[in-house]
Amino acid sequence: MMARIAAEAGLHYEEEAQPMDPSGKVAVITGGASGIGLATAKLLAANGARVVIGDLQDELGRAAAAEIETAGGQAHFVRTDVLIRDDLQRLLDTAVERFGRVDIVHNNAGVNEGGDFLAPDADAWERTLAIDLEAVIRLTQLAVQQFRKQGGGGVIINTASMGGIIPISTSPIYATSKAGVIHLSRSLGHLASEGIRVNAICPSYTDTPMVRAAGEQVMEMMKQEVGGILTPEQIAEGVLELVRDDSRAGAVMRVTIRNGLDYAFERRAGR
Ligand SMILES: NC(=O)c1ccc[n+]([C@@H]2O[C@H](COP(=O)([O-])OP(=O)(O)OC[C@H]3O[C@@H](n4cnc5c(N)ncnc54)[C@H](O)[C@@H]3O)[C@@H](O)[C@H]2O)c1
Repeated sequence: MMARIAAEAGLHYEEEAQPMDPSGKVAVITGGASGIGLATAKLLAANGARVVIGDLQDELGRAAAAEIETAGGQAHFVRTDVLIRDDLQRLLDTAVERFGRVDIVHNNAGVNEGGDFLAPDADAWERTLAIDLEAVIRLTQLAVQQFRKQGGGGVIINTASMGGIIPISTSPIYATSKAGVIHLSRSLGHLASEGIRVNAICPSYTDTPMVRAAGEQVMEMMKQEVGGILTPEQIAEGVLELVRDDSRAGAVMRVTIRNGLDYAFERRAGR
């Protein structure tokens, strides 16, 4: 309407993008058995999306899918090790078999096993890099291929971290992996020309099993450092916003106690 009025007046008008409605969409979420991924799976399902959870944790994954179904949603669990390419392909294929397509991919599985960098346990840091960055790259590639097969469209939200923006002296490999996730997502902003949006979300400290595993003392330190700790549900709200906001591509959302949801890099589709 505005575009027509502007055209009649001889003006260029950049049409506001329409929000993507998650209702009826098919969402694939890695690391969806716990923490941020679980909260996202529940929130997307509550907003009408059909969700496929991929995770290493069988019992928790099945329980998550059952809980969503009991609440009236549609969900399915696929045991997935994001380190195995065939598992990632099977995760997408199962979503297609079960629900017909894939519209949303939340690349979220992650670990922080870096250990002491200066007395390194090689296996630990390599695993962190492989899960937190390489697997994100791989599933992003596979998801884009799937979106193209479907004729374009689709959104990928990669879980990075504030640690990908601000250096973490105690977890340099984790921080490096997350910085890679941010740069990958920004570098794929151009896929918006095919209607495919790749964005990253950077949570600050969030109360999940990953953080709890570090112990009470570390959690207290985190709270002191940034003024509190976020809930997984707050991060899920950010993911939902990135699903809905059709104008964002190659953007990097931050979620912090201080500023709530805002953007470290604001890129919008077509700009
Ligand atoms: N909690 C925080 O403070 C925080 C802050 C910033 C970013 N993040 C990121 O958020 C994401 C989710 O973490 P969380 O805090 O919810 O932790 P979490 O431990 O509750 O969830 C991570 C999930 O990933 C799964 N996972 C790990 N390795 C896997 C593999 N190889 N294959 C499949 N699944 C695997 C785990 O089983 C688990 O269910 C991670 O990428 C993490 O780095 C967390």
